[in-house]
Amino acid sequence: MFNMKVVMVTGESNPLVKTGGLADVVYSLSKELVKSRKNNVSIIMPFYKQVNAKLTKRPVKVCSFEVYMSWRKQYCVVYKTLIDGIRYFLIKNDQYFNRDNVYGYDDDIERFACFTLASKKLLEMINLIPDVIHIHDWHPGMLPLLIKDDYGSPLNKAKFVLTIHNPAFKGLFDKYFLGNFYNLNDKYFNDGSVCFNGAVSTLKTAIVYSNKITTVSPTHRIELLTDEAISGGLNHVLEYRRDDFVGILNGIDYEEFDPTKDEKIVAKLKGNVVSFKKANKEALLKEKDLVNDDAPLYGMVSRLTWQKGLDIMLGNVESLLQRGSKVIILGSGESKYENHLEYLRAKYPHHLSIYIGYNDELAHKIYAASDFFLMPSLFEPCGLSQMISLHYATLPVVRLVGGLKDSVTPYVDDNLKYADGFGFYDYTYNALSGTLNWCEQVYKDKEKMKTLRNNALEQNYDWKKSSQKYLALYKSII
Ligand code: GLC
Repeated sequence: MFNMKVVMVTGESNPLVKTGGLADVVYSLSKELVKSRKNNVSIIMPFYKQVNAKLTKRPVKVCSFEVYMSWRKQYCVVYKTLIDGIRYFLIKNDQYFNRDNVYGYDDDIERFACFTLASKKLLEMINLIPDVIHIHDWHPGMLPLLIKDDYGSPLNKAKFVLTIHNPAFKGLFDKYFLGNFYNLNDKYFNDGSVCFNGAVSTLKTAIVYSNKITTVSPTHRIELLTDEAISGGLNHVLEYRRDDFVGILNGIDYEEFDPTKDEKIVAKLKGNVVSFKKANKEALLKEKDLVNDDAPLYGMVSRLTWQKGLDIMLGNVESLLQRGSKVIILGSGESKYENHLEYLRAKYPHHLSIYIGYNDELAHKIYAASDFFLMPSLFEPCGLSQMISLHYATLPVVRLVGGLKDSVTPYVDDNLKYADGFGFYDYTYNALSGTLNWCEQVYKDKEKMKTLRNNALEQNYDWKKSSQKYLALYKSII
């Protein structure tokens, strides 16, 4: 077997820090590459304040150095730790990373410029020259160009793969900072290679300078190539890289989400899907002090942001509650959505439960207890929650975009044999409300529900197939 040396460079990764699906994917893909395929995988990420609480053993100091960002000198210390066979390199700089939040600061561009420069310096200093440097999203996007620009760097032997998890974040900054943060010459702006709508984009730069580009589902690849709105204008540069651009569906970590063993849920799955759902539903309704009747329970675990479809969902949630359904929502995000949910909770306290924040145990309970799982996203590069829901026999209600389209088969009357969820296309209040009416109608038919739930359980979205696709992609360039 051919073993490869891969370095992932990312803004976040489980189990050390997570704000979204990016962290799940970097970790579970790496784990699969190490475990079943014996590759050598390292992850480089910032040493955030939050990381300390997640480390189970003291990390080992690797080296320290200064990163030059034109006139700035930033002192970085690098630590390493081994988790599940993956080597984590943690870049520590307290000015940039010892803060209460992971992202969302005015100087995010400067923070990740330091991180990107430090990643390069680290690899050179410890002479770790991988076959593939796999970068994720906008944060380390300038790395391929920084290496190419430095002819003498031994890292020029490595090949680059970029994965786009979320095209909405492009890493935009004024061209002044190309030199001021990254020590790069204006020529890269003037010849168009880093320039995006008059600014610099780290994501676009990564698209231009990586050997291969992936996104996290086949359908989202097509959307990024053809849809100006979803790609936010990246379609033009992606079109030019079309032959090197592939869509690989994410997997989920079936060790973390295993309904037959899950310690976080009340009843484990032991063959009988009906009693499994019933026991978990009753327990959660009781825990959350919601009316315990036979009306359907809708769940949602999500960042509460515009991307996730809240604009068409909140009105629909209210009409579900009026009709006696129950809804449980876990997440945090934009305050206008959080406030609206608080208002609905005050109005329907025994039908709606919300948890603002993240709570892993509650998330597992929602996956196991809900009849339906809400994911009416405006766009969704892949989405992981619908796959987890399917694995817990919860039927996803999705807008048929991106990875949602690639992983859920909506029930449409004549496909009961293999359907496993509900879906709609138009991003409108009415399209979702029509689908929810359909859910309610189907819910009344216990036999149909049972068939759909069993169909859901038959789906397999573990990492085996997808990790093989990444390996084949790596091999095609080295
Ligand atoms: C981003 C996308 C989501 C995807 C995840 C992991 O969070 O919005 O659709 O599943 O990245 O790739």
